[in-house]
Amino acid sequence: MNRKFESVIVFWGMMFSLLQIPVNGKAQNKLQTAKPNRSRDCFDERWLFHKGDIAMKRAVKVGGQGGLTDARVKIITTKDTTINYNDVSSSTVLYPNDWQLVNFPHDWVVENSFVNDNSLGSQPAGNGYLPGGIGFYRKEFEIPEADRGKKIAIEFDGIFRNSTVWVNGHLLGNHQSGYTPSNYDLTDILRYGNEGKNVILVKVDASEYEGWWYEGGGIYRHVWLIKTNRLHVDRFGTYVTTPSVSSNEAVVNIKTTLKNEYKIAKNITLISKIINSKGVVLDAETTSQKIEPFSIIEIEQKGTVQQPLLWSPETPNLYKVQTAVIDSGNIIDTYQTNFGVRTIEINRNGVFLNGKLYPVKGTANHQDFAGIGVALPDKINEYKLRLLKEMGSNAYRSAHHPPTPELLDMCDSIGLLVLDENRFLSSTEEGLKDLATMLYRDRNHPSIFMWCMENEEWIQGTVTGSGILETMVETTHKIDPSRKVTAAMNHARNDGGYADVLDVVGYNYGDKGMAYVKDHENYPQRITFCTESTSYVSTRGEYENNWEKGYVSNLTNWEPNWGPLPGEDWADVVKYPFLGGTFVWSGFDYRGEPTPYRWPCVSSHFGIMDICGFPKDGYYAYKAAWTNEQVVHIFPHWNWPGKKGKPVNVQCYTNCEEVELFLNGKSYGKKKAIPFKKLEWELVYQTGKLEARGYNKGKLVTKDIVETTTEPAQISLNSDCDQLKADGCDVAVIRVAIKDARGRVVPTADNLVQFSIEGPGKIIGTGNGNPSSHEPDKASRRKAFNGYCLVLVQTDKTPGEIRLKATSGTLKDTEVVLRSE
Ligand code: GAL
Repeated sequence: MNRKFESVIVFWGMMFSLLQIPVNGKAQNKLQTAKPNRSRDCFDERWLFHKGDIAMKRAVKVGGQGGLTDARVKIITTKDTTINYNDVSSSTVLYPNDWQLVNFPHDWVVENSFVNDNSLGSQPAGNGYLPGGIGFYRKEFEIPEADRGKKIAIEFDGIFRNSTVWVNGHLLGNHQSGYTPSNYDLTDILRYGNEGKNVILVKVDASEYEGWWYEGGGIYRHVWLIKTNRLHVDRFGTYVTTPSVSSNEAVVNIKTTLKNEYKIAKNITLISKIINSKGVVLDAETTSQKIEPFSIIEIEQKGTVQQPLLWSPETPNLYKVQTAVIDSGNIIDTYQTNFGVRTIEINRNGVFLNGKLYPVKGTANHQDFAGIGVALPDKINEYKLRLLKEMGSNAYRSAHHPPTPELLDMCDSIGLLVLDENRFLSSTEEGLKDLATMLYRDRNHPSIFMWCMENEEWIQGTVTGSGILETMVETTHKIDPSRKVTAAMNHARNDGGYADVLDVVGYNYGDKGMAYVKDHENYPQRITFCTESTSYVSTRGEYENNWEKGYVSNLTNWEPNWGPLPGEDWADVVKYPFLGGTFVWSGFDYRGEPTPYRWPCVSSHFGIMDICGFPKDGYYAYKAAWTNEQVVHIFPHWNWPGKKGKPVNVQCYTNCEEVELFLNGKSYGKKKAIPFKKLEWELVYQTGKLEARGYNKGKLVTKDIVETTTEPAQISLNSDCDQLKADGCDVAVIRVAIKDARGRVVPTADNLVQFSIEGPGKIIGTGNGNPSSHEPDKASRRKAFNGYCLVLVQTDKTPGEIRLKATSGTLKDTEVVLRSE
């Protein structure tokens, strides 16, 4: 659905329920049907993008900047005209060929070519050898006369990074952080109706870094245009908590911040309704209050939910508070806040959700995906979360910065706990502002179970670090007393009082020397939690280390020396439930940090899945540890033409009690499984069929087969959905496999696959999980890597049939048909 349309529908749906639905059976007083005052329209579409810097003269008098930031721009079409961007008196500034039409989310860095330069990034190879740089975004837009008198603001969910915004020649401000949202009030400087068009210009300077991973560059999250009455619920203006929860009743505490931007005082009535997922109003609170001109007040109300349906990852029940602000009988503002009813207790015995021990089965993740860099359409965020959930994960750590807000909505509704993380250890004005923005923005999400202040900062364990951390922790307690606060520490830091200022001490790789267990004993007051574990490196489908190509074998125990093997971290959580759970580094591969290699390797190998979401062997270690499904997974593949008669090591992840291995029907013995450890056999290679049978109590419960395939013969396409929304945003994730004549995936195939598309859709990216691939992601062809590659197809706004065809030399081609409605 078109987003604008969607927001209108949501609004009128809310109005309808505010006006019509009886509360607990009692009819409401009729209120005037006012014209909707609040709208929140997606502002992602049709921006012009300019890659590279543009000289811009700084105006010393407001409004005197003209040029690019002004609507009086003359479009130049003659190629040889020289443009003087510095000349603010001239209106001849825009040469169309320099600008490309884009929609958000957008990451221009992922479109750059790889450069073998270790000075790029905050550390060598950190950003995956993709140069950052500067870019400009420009958009013209109109505001109708009818909006005069409203408050109008623009909200950027995330720009990487250092963004400067001008509207109609006015410099609005600068926002450094690439991970917190920025908001500008446009009311006073807009042109309304016949006054003419408005122009917004955003400069994005992604030449500096905030992390040691690939961070992209551009307006890579959504942008919103928000219009409200002059008296309105403030930005992030509600705070809904459930201070007391029992099976009979939950008390719902609602704090609403209202802002009066009229120059007269107002007497308003605030109605907050608590509504369940079926739209039934369960309770409503009404408060009348005077608000002085140009002032902000907070109103606190209390409601209840009887027999609440509790929120948990397994039962992600949601409620909402619908807020209405009434002035002289008219609803002048409405606002919606989703919340969940649940209790979280983190103590010396572990994490307790709704009163029960709830081990956190988490993965830590960066915002990055094949084909698109950090510019993830909502669908891709959802796709990644669903893959993690299918693996058995119940928690997501947003490493090492706050995620896009839509991801939190998804975790609320799909059911995943979240460790929401602040980027920097900083108590400067700007540092605390970024922290506070994360807290105010995110504190209503039931999925967030704890706040993380920072990750592995160098001054952990120092007196200076402790001082900074304490200020941050206290700031957090003040803004959200309902959650505990941690920091992710490399092997914990017991010096300088650092750990003492935290509610929960976060251990990254605390298994080293069993620090997290020893400290738990040595510090009787300390609550411990495992914020990060594992960091096992492996390349999907590779079974030999290859320093030249940059591949790491799935068979070796070649983990970096700071973490255990896949699944083994879970053994500690089971043995020591007080650890609370873990966040495995990492759910997916991501660009940059290609440990243990550098060039030509450009992507990390830490993922349980590769950057496309294809599982590696270690995936099954977690599936075995975290689900009730019976798992037997054997590897490597069985296509080794050069290994006839030579020894081959066969390994297996399982949660069965015993596993028996057969090669071409001959048994190689039953092995007893040790929980969370892999099994190994030494065989002499011969082509054919390798089969592993899993037994519980002597009964066969599951099996896994690996066979020698023949040559690649055909392509297969597997889309994650066949129906899409014709909204210009929705995406189909199409998994491409190279198969032999009998339909078995050829595990070594690297055929180049050519895609062509017909109908109202476009290819927005491709990937294959090869961490050393230098092929462009924005292309309509991709080599398979160990049998697989991926193509992402995004809809247009026109409904219709989208046909994606895949061909590759003499292989039998194929197509997939998607319906976009
Ligand atoms: C951790 C760090 C992560 C990543 C990981 C790789 O120490 O928090 O960002 O660098 O190591 O093992």
